[in-house]
Amino acid sequence: IRDDPATVGQYIGDYIAKRINDFNPTAEKPFVLGLPTGSSPIPTYKYLIDLHKAGKLSFKHVVTFNMDEYVGLPRDHPESYHTFMFREFFSHIDIPPTQINLLDGNASDLIRECNSYEEKIKKAGGIELFLGGIGEDGHIAFNEPGSSLTSRTRIKTLAYDTILANARFFNNDISAVPRMALTVGVATVMDSREVAVVVTGQRKSLALSKAIEEGVNHLWTLSALQLHPRSLIVVDEDATAEL
Ligand code: GLP
Repeated sequence: IRDDPATVGQYIGDYIAKRINDFNPTAEKPFVLGLPTGSSPIPTYKYLIDLHKAGKLSFKHVVTFNMDEYVGLPRDHPESYHTFMFREFFSHIDIPPTQINLLDGNASDLIRECNSYEEKIKKAGGIELFLGGIGEDGHIAFNEPGSSLTSRTRIKTLAYDTILANARFFNNDISAVPRMALTVGVATVMDSREVAVVVTGQRKSLALSKAIEEGVNHLWTLSALQLHPRSLIVVDEDATAEL
């Protein structure tokens, strides 16, 4: 538990930097990092960019896999996760573009896109560290309430609560929010060797308490982390309101 979103970002940023630097990645053995979107990871991204600019961290031998992407939103739409990731992170660091993996929500065959994403992760040797955030309904990536805890990358219809929560990114126009997304599954996240999740703000406090103080269940998919041998949840004071 840290004081506020900025110190949460600093803590996770330092943690990720240490993991990458200790791993000492090379072209032959890159560090495979899973990444989220949303407002919660922005302070972490800012902090990682600062570390990079200070010469303390390089992404030259880091391979990334993003968690999710909207279906049908043009790739260059300001709210696509593709645009978000380049704007908030990738454009400011030294990662080669060929090492960035994002789901394509406009692929002509979405099922094939999801299956080949799982294959790509496997080929890369699996994910070393998956950074995540959660929705107010406790979803990790876009694994909405009711998602199977053994789910893999697939198409997911968004919960109405998620559409409402994300309308703030679409000028509060609910009708502009995509109804579907591609997302890694709960099992895809659980397969990574380590998971670190950032949860900030009072809006997330119910989800946090359900996920860590109640049993493992498919209605609050973050709760699956209780079964992960190496998981870390970093929260701010506001997010602890229901604990
Ligand atoms: C979306 C993403 C999630 C993210 C969530 C939280 O639903 N698919 O991966 O965790 O937003 O967003 P925020 O951090 O802005 O609250």
